[in-house]
Amino acid sequence: MRPTDKITVPMLDLKAQFKTIGPEIMDAVAEVFQTQAFILGPGVARAEEELARLVGTPHALGVSSGTDALLLSLMALGIGPGDGVITTPFTFFATVGSIVRLGAVPLFADIDPDTFNLDPLAVQELLERGDLPAQPKALLPVHLFGQAADMEPLGRLADAHGLKIVEDAAQALGAAYRSPDGEVTKVGAIGDTGCFSFFPSKNLGAAGDGGLITCRDDELAAKLRSMRTHGSHPSEKYRHIYVGGNFRLDALQAAVIRVKLAYLDGWSRARRANADDYDRLLAESGLVDRGLVGRPYRAYPDIEFGHVFNQYVIRARSRDQLQAALAEAKIGCAIYYPTPMHLLECFADLGGRAGDLPVSEQAAAEVLALPVYPELTMEQKQRVVEVMVDFYQAF
Ligand SMILES: Cc1ncc(COP(=O)(O)O)c(C=O)c1O
Repeated sequence: MRPTDKITVPMLDLKAQFKTIGPEIMDAVAEVFQTQAFILGPGVARAEEELARLVGTPHALGVSSGTDALLLSLMALGIGPGDGVITTPFTFFATVGSIVRLGAVPLFADIDPDTFNLDPLAVQELLERGDLPAQPKALLPVHLFGQAADMEPLGRLADAHGLKIVEDAAQALGAAYRSPDGEVTKVGAIGDTGCFSFFPSKNLGAAGDGGLITCRDDELAAKLRSMRTHGSHPSEKYRHIYVGGNFRLDALQAAVIRVKLAYLDGWSRARRANADDYDRLLAESGLVDRGLVGRPYRAYPDIEFGHVFNQYVIRARSRDQLQAALAEAKIGCAIYYPTPMHLLECFADLGGRAGDLPVSEQAAAEVLALPVYPELTMEQKQRVVEVMVDFYQAF
């Protein structure tokens, strides 16, 4: 037994984070209990102002989850039964579930093999097809793993075809996009709305569910705000101007989010430093040159927050066996996502078949997310790579 065999690495260690900010969180939570005001209120409004500033939009609305951010955005943009929404099959379920729940039809375009994000050329080809099952009304790109989709060409296609854009930025709060002409914008400030999640495993995680919608348009913001509370009139009680829902962010969650917001940039830098270390350790290990492991591609390597590494996702030969070897060594890792959306049983009536979207299908078979949370130590990162090297010895 080597001394390093004792090092264990969880996929995520929220207790390590809580050790550093626990007292501040508990004070903020206690303050909400003192007020006994749990629904919306000044704490939510302050969180919204701070988050709008971070993203760079005039408006931000706290909502009940990232899923509800997507659902409410689509509802407010008028997406409904029979409308086509172009999106990626390589994403978390909520992206596509939100479309289908409204009776709209997901139209899948394949991804770019480097970034795992929607491939603008595939979107263009889809739009040029004459046999789509539904008329496209919206485009729903996902900024997967913490890196922006290529929004400039996607935006041009959306403009040309009159599509609304809802950004699924659930994994990418604070991530920056650089357009081909060099303009840098935060994700969530590009489309009609940006949708974020405060699920605890996100870079900024609440103490439960929470989400955010950002938007630039005043009228749309007012509509979203109304629909967040059952479409109520802004000043007259029990007058309802839309059919919305209960999509509110809790004051307790807003209090936690506000404390954590001050740390977000530091955490994102720490995640990136971890990614840099993995990149180097994997290169030095020879696994990259031997074609056994592919490291995450960085589309915007020279801008700060060009990738905020909600996940550090490699491609791995014999991925499932590698995952088992890591688990055996008590190293957490995860597959995001094992099945592309067009092949899920609950979407079978959409008619997706294996082979339809080969780049996504290959990604689903090869990807593996390694632990990248900010508090990871150098010994832990070295241990992860050491176990991988041991595993690939026989190859
Ligand atoms: C890409 C993506 N979209 C949507 C969501 C949904 O967010 P939530 O879990 O807050 O509902 C998530 C996160 O879980 C996600 O990763």
